[in-house]
Amino acid sequence: MAKKLITVTVNGILHERAVDPRMLLIHFLRDELNLTGAHIGCDTSHCGACTVDIDGQSVKSCTHLAVQCDGSDVLTIEGLTDKGVLHAVQEAFYQKHGLQCGFCTPGMLMRAYRLLQENPDPSEDEIRHGMAGNLCRCTGYQNIVKAVQYAARKLQEPVAT
Ligand code: FES
Ligand code: FES
Repeated sequence: MAKKLITVTVNGILHERAVDPRMLLIHFLRDELNLTGAHIGCDTSHCGACTVDIDGQSVKSCTHLAVQCDGSDVLTIEGLTDKGVLHAVQEAFYQKHGLQCGFCTPGMLMRAYRLLQENPDPSEDEIRHGMAGNLCRCTGYQNIVKAVQYAARKLQEPVAT
């Protein structure tokens, strides 16, 4: 099958690549760009371990084709840290112990990041609903909810000047 040339910005860096039209975004990120933060958990759009952000929306990259990202802006877990400073959601999961084995964590963080952009002050129910597409086998979700609440508070703090 003929490859298709795509141009995609990932974590602020422009990439031009010829890809197989059936290549999944998760494989493009992991195998072509060596960005292995997004995990492959189920390959069937159930677990959310592969969640990334595309043009301001959470997307499960195991059910999205790389060619669909032509011209798009993709953010992965590797792009969340700003000049070595953890993003609020990263700090929150660390502070509130929102992980155990960590397999689900990149997807959880990317979904929490987008959820808090969509709804900066979510209720507990809204957090549980908003994170429902991301599964965790370890934590029982309690600390994940606490982490998202922590991140919401942190993001609303005035920025020091
Ligand atoms: Fe994509 Fe599970 S690997 S949803
Ligand atoms: Fe192990 Fe979530 S921390 S699957």
